Amino acid sequence: MKILLVDGTIIGRKTGAILKQIETYIKEFDGSLELELLHLADFEHQFVDGRPFDQYNTDMKTLVKKFEEADGYILATPIFQGSIPGVLKNAFDFLHPKALRYKPVSIVANGGTQQHHLVVENQLKPILDYFRALVTPNYVYTHASHFDKDNNIIDENVLERLQELVRVFGKYCELSNDLPKEPIDQH
Ligand SMILES: Cc1cc2nc3c(=O)[nH]c(=O)nc-3n(C[C@H](O)[C@H](O)[C@H](O)COP(=O)(O)O)c2cc1C
Repeated sequence: MKILLVDGTIIGRKTGAILKQIETYIKEFDGSLELELLHLADFEHQFVDGRPFDQYNTDMKTLVKKFEEADGYILATPIFQGSIPGVLKNAFDFLHPKALRYKPVSIVANGGTQQHHLVVENQLKPILDYFRALVTPNYVYTHASHFDKDNNIIDENVLERLQELVRVFGKYCELSNDLPKEPIDQH
């Protein structure tokens, strides 16, 4: 299975650092999963504005293709203004409603305050529910005190929760394998 590790921001380093840690854990847990890190910061973004899909730039076409071809996702998002970054929402807006259907998704989020973990529950999960993704019940929320100055995760509890997340994600991958996927219409 192809798993896309999506760094859902064009500002900041912590979500990328969390994904590197998850990549290590997934390799330890299940070496058969094919992993790809995707940083939204590496793309030249355009807003979804209703033009025909073939008129978007190559980066946006590549982004959509990578989402469509993946069999599962780890989504990493910072919290911006009590929500997810606009660039991540814009990426979701590009996707066909069936693009994530019955595919496993795990979420990690980083915020400047402890309280904003509910953004995952109240804002990100409903989007993924709309896509009918298989969202794992556990997610991991971090903030600055969990990292050292080089953005290495130093909090043991966070590391344990990331390992648990990876174990559950692996089970959701197995579940996803047994569910039929409909082909999605071409853009
Ligand atoms: C525009 C903007 C808005 C933010 N809004 C919030 C917020 O509402 N809640 C919160 O907990 N953190 C907020 N933050 C803090 C970011 O979530 C935090 O700085 C980021 O995840 C830290 O990652 P970094 O050190 O890699 O930049 C905001 C940051 C920016 C840049």
